[in-house]
Amino acid sequence: MSSSIDILEKVNQQVKKLKPLVGSDPYRLHYHLMPPVGLLNDPNGLVYYKGNYHVFYQWNPFETTHGSKFWGHYVSTDLVHWKEAPPALVPGDWYDKNGCYSGSAVVVGDTLYLFYTGNVKDQKGNRESYQCLAVSDDGIHFKKKGPVIHVPDGYTAHFRDPKVFRKNGKWYMVLGAQTKNKAGAAVLYTSDNLEEWSFLGTFAGSGHRNAGEFGYMWECPDLLELNGTDILLVCPQGMDSQGFQYQNTYQSGYFVGKVNYAEGNFDHGQFVELDRGFDFYAPQTTIDPKGRTILFGWMGNAVEGDIQEPTVKYEWIHALTLPRELEWKEGKLMQHPVEELKRLRGKETRYKDVNLKGEQQLSLRGQVFEMKVSFNSMEGETLTLQVGESKLTYDQHEGVFTFQRKNYYTSQQESRHCYLQDLKEIHLFKDTSSIEIFLNDGEEVFTSRVFDDVQTDEIVVLTSGSVEMNLQKWDLHR
Ligand code: FRU
Repeated sequence: MSSSIDILEKVNQQVKKLKPLVGSDPYRLHYHLMPPVGLLNDPNGLVYYKGNYHVFYQWNPFETTHGSKFWGHYVSTDLVHWKEAPPALVPGDWYDKNGCYSGSAVVVGDTLYLFYTGNVKDQKGNRESYQCLAVSDDGIHFKKKGPVIHVPDGYTAHFRDPKVFRKNGKWYMVLGAQTKNKAGAAVLYTSDNLEEWSFLGTFAGSGHRNAGEFGYMWECPDLLELNGTDILLVCPQGMDSQGFQYQNTYQSGYFVGKVNYAEGNFDHGQFVELDRGFDFYAPQTTIDPKGRTILFGWMGNAVEGDIQEPTVKYEWIHALTLPRELEWKEGKLMQHPVEELKRLRGKETRYKDVNLKGEQQLSLRGQVFEMKVSFNSMEGETLTLQVGESKLTYDQHEGVFTFQRKNYYTSQQESRHCYLQDLKEIHLFKDTSSIEIFLNDGEEVFTSRVFDDVQTDEIVVLTSGSVEMNLQKWDLHR
């Protein structure tokens, strides 16, 4: 078996060889985190350590398909400008030979602790999983310490994605799991020293006292508290779509309630989707030195069969979302693009108190920009904002917001929707092949990749009734 130094050398060669091809892709993003080559999926190990933000990510450097995952690594002082660091975790030990799967990071004194799932498969495809630890004292080089948790009785080997956090003077770890009867659950562990862990049992999901069955597997749980409210972010797999809900292959959302840490359970309400777009999954949060809860998500999702995004021809696929700050406000989980993103702003275009009626429209141009449109008044049926070949529509009568994009495979239009009582503001970030739309200060968010004709740069606002609005647009540059 090759050593991790040989494998790192192979990764370097792969990156060097394919860099010109990857860089020539017109859909390469301008201000989002992407894999240098190959496939990226979940953000991992978000943490602030010794003056830097660290974002790790699930990375297959050798293919644009899922496979044996590394932890890729980016470092930043401001959440906007990132430097690539060497891969933090390389698969290959007996307990992670088929992938260093998702996990999280915590800091104790001068030491950075990474927790991740070691994925092991035999030749027949049978799976084993181990929750593993790796440590570092410079944030760049990591030493693996091996498994700290084995799968307990009552669960299948779909047991992964440790998120570790501190609460009431103790460490806790929440994990995604599948029970032996093939139902999704989140489980909880506790520890005093991060190395010895005690199992507290199923904490939410199937088998828990106040939940029915909800999907066949839960991935990437994250437990956080905002304004005294406990929020479990989780990604259930196997949900049937219902109306506007659960339209993507896998879902990402949250439950709100109260955790009882002594008993290890969670009284919670209904599942709410975190994002209404086509491409959002596996979000993770960290609390930064400013006390903010910062979230990154994977700007992608599982796709059916062998449908491939256009970037695959250029040997890379997927990206992370922009960093977002979470806020719990009036019973809603709000997502705001972090303040620091203003540093990307270049040339500004501004329209103040513009009235639009009937056939009139307002036209601009841009491919890589930020835009804010706020409405002083709106009367009539619909408001439409066309961004390249995508269309954002608000139907005031129905109280429905729709995002429509061109499907990159069939070229047909496809849409996602949500109910919205009132549209006060659209704040969006467009990159060469992505769009993140924040409605009403982040009350609803739509995240999607968009693969328009590369020349397309038209932006048009129109209405079937009448609106008075303010519009600001900034060209964005890193
Ligand atoms: C979610 C996920 C995780 C797993 C990782 C593997 O997208 O399936 O559950 O740890 O990706 O890359």
